[in-house]
Amino acid sequence: MRFDSPAGKNPADRMTVLGRSTPRIEGPLKTTGTAAYAYERYEVAEKQLIGYPLGSAIAKGRVVSMDTQEAEAAPGVVAVVTTLDMDRLPKVQWNIAYLFGGREIQHYHQAIAVVVAKSFEEARAAAGLIRVEYEEDSDSTYDLAAARERQVQETVEPISSVGDFEGAFAVAPVKLDETYTTPAQCHAQMEPHATIAQWNGDNLTLWTSNQMIEWSRQALSTTFDLPPDNFRLDSPYIGGGFGVKLFLRADAILAALGARRTGRSVKVALPRPMIANNTTHRGMTIQRIRIGADEDGRITAISHDNSSNTLPGGEGEEGARPTRHFYAGENRLMIHRPAVMHLPESNAMRAPGDTAGLMALEIAMDEMAEKLDMDPVEFRVVNDTQVDPENPDRPFSQRRFVECLRRGAEAFDWSSRNTEPGRLRDGEWLIGHGVAGAYRGAPAAASGARVRLRPNGSALVETDMTDIGTGSYTIIAQTAAEMLGLPIEQVDVDLGDSRAPVSSGSGGQWGAASSTAGVYAACVALRKKIAERMDVDADELEFADGSVRHGGTQTPLTGLTDGQEIVAEDSIEFGDFRTQEYLLSTFGAHFTEVAVHRATAEIRVRRMLAVCDAGRILNPLTARSQVIGAMTMGVGGALMEGMEVDQRRGFFVNHDLASYEVPIHADIPEQEVIFLEGGDPYSTPLKAKGVGELGICGVSAAVANAIYNATGVRVRDYPITLDKLL
Ligand code: MOS
Repeated sequence: MRFDSPAGKNPADRMTVLGRSTPRIEGPLKTTGTAAYAYERYEVAEKQLIGYPLGSAIAKGRVVSMDTQEAEAAPGVVAVVTTLDMDRLPKVQWNIAYLFGGREIQHYHQAIAVVVAKSFEEARAAAGLIRVEYEEDSDSTYDLAAARERQVQETVEPISSVGDFEGAFAVAPVKLDETYTTPAQCHAQMEPHATIAQWNGDNLTLWTSNQMIEWSRQALSTTFDLPPDNFRLDSPYIGGGFGVKLFLRADAILAALGARRTGRSVKVALPRPMIANNTTHRGMTIQRIRIGADEDGRITAISHDNSSNTLPGGEGEEGARPTRHFYAGENRLMIHRPAVMHLPESNAMRAPGDTAGLMALEIAMDEMAEKLDMDPVEFRVVNDTQVDPENPDRPFSQRRFVECLRRGAEAFDWSSRNTEPGRLRDGEWLIGHGVAGAYRGAPAAASGARVRLRPNGSALVETDMTDIGTGSYTIIAQTAAEMLGLPIEQVDVDLGDSRAPVSSGSGGQWGAASSTAGVYAACVALRKKIAERMDVDADELEFADGSVRHGGTQTPLTGLTDGQEIVAEDSIEFGDFRTQEYLLSTFGAHFTEVAVHRATAEIRVRRMLAVCDAGRILNPLTARSQVIGAMTMGVGGALMEGMEVDQRRGFFVNHDLASYEVPIHADIPEQEVIFLEGGDPYSTPLKAKGVGELGICGVSAAVANAIYNATGVRVRDYPITLDKLL
């Protein structure tokens, strides 16, 4: 089915199952420990061996030699596969770093060997016996500030330029020119990367943990130089991704190589202390923001100039991205400067670009409002735009940012805050309030599904869509239930298996909108098949209460199947109108109250509110979970998170969950989420958009602005640890 014009009224609009707060249908499996994650799938492969990876101890250079004799002779060891056993394996463009093979080392903890043994302990012990001789390059730096100093001497092609920024900024009566920094951040997902691999001739099956099944199937095809159909991936449950599982990673390659060498099935999990440096992170940034406004607070000039670390071939964190489209202003200049350094691979982490960009931009907006002596809510309202500021001919399909700000201000009692910083006290605590805007795109990707109506009247949906803890199972079941007139208990959902139709996968907050649109398309096809059997027009049928109604007659679905399944499959494809004629985005406003201790500068978040404009909310319960999880991550970004770089050796020092701090329950107060009602017909047939990444956008700045309001200290360097306030 092609989606190439705005959605009209359709059966999903009934909203008898969709739009209802529905607990996750796979929730009981997870809470009882019976949902098997990749590492726990003991049932899938016979005579399993365990692989333990070895990571490089240098950041840049070459492996000269590897002595594996002792490791190979160690108890339980079956095989040792090293990077010197093969040339560098080909990769696809999604992976910036090379994953395995050859002598060249691009980053610390790059995988250089896997030891395969009968037990985990034996594999791990033997990995420690491999002796590696390196030749280390001494020419690399890991200091973004130094790189930035060199970069700003150079002329670069801006990523976008509208009007005459420099001219307009020079004459603006009110202006800001500040620089903000954000550190490298770690996804810190609960479930480590893990894969069980088993070859059958030239066919490989991977039981793994991966957000994008088809991307990885294609990547395996390239890496092992075999047709895509030779690969099967199965990833039904994923214990968190946040972008770190978008692509193939070393666990999958090492398990596959170990399995090929031994002829047995091999299981590899990346040890926690290896994940931060072996896989990906959000790149660190240095962001210069300049804003000029007239005395009424209208932005006349805006520029965002961002630097971020990356391995060769990557972009790093594209911090200037949200500023391209968020606020009005005729003269605009956006610059992105990738700084090549041999740190691990910087790549997508929850709302890549926008998260870090808004950490800076939304403090800058607060600072501008203060210079203008305006309320920061009003300053944002004044600079709202209903068209793409880079292209006035392209309107937003739906933009209710002002409503988010107004609704939030009212619900949060914003008007009663103290506007003068450092004045509000509660005993020993200084109290402050902050606001920030949220902006994130609403992309969609082609997505397929197969629906089976079974003889007992229940349905099964199959798609390679993944559920990374987001609620995909549930919203897909809701969609099929709505379309087929079934109670949700009558719908089963199978996800994450590459034998099912190719879906959008989970990434870029496109998953919910795209995958449910694909299920919608498959259900429309199934309804057509049923209509054909009844020899009537599909539009005349009404599906409700486990029956199909036509005219005055009602037939139970069980009566239609003749004891055979009725199977339909389709995919949704998105037409260009969605991106060429309109700009589809999601918007939000975050309000935060903090308390800062006057003596110790300890910072406590007290109250948080998010208002989201993100199309039709398919399941308010799971959507809320996405948003409060993202708000929690934003608090981490504001107050705690940051990977420390060893400047001599080029690696992240705090590379485990003991030393990389993230918020725990005691750090998080009451959180509230308000969703604006109504759908966006330009988005999908279900009029839905994503919300899982919108939820983190702007949060850290709302906390930073609240801290400023509490203390009068403006910190432009994340995370805002208490030493920066003293
Ligand atoms: Mo997302 S950072 O595309 O999982």
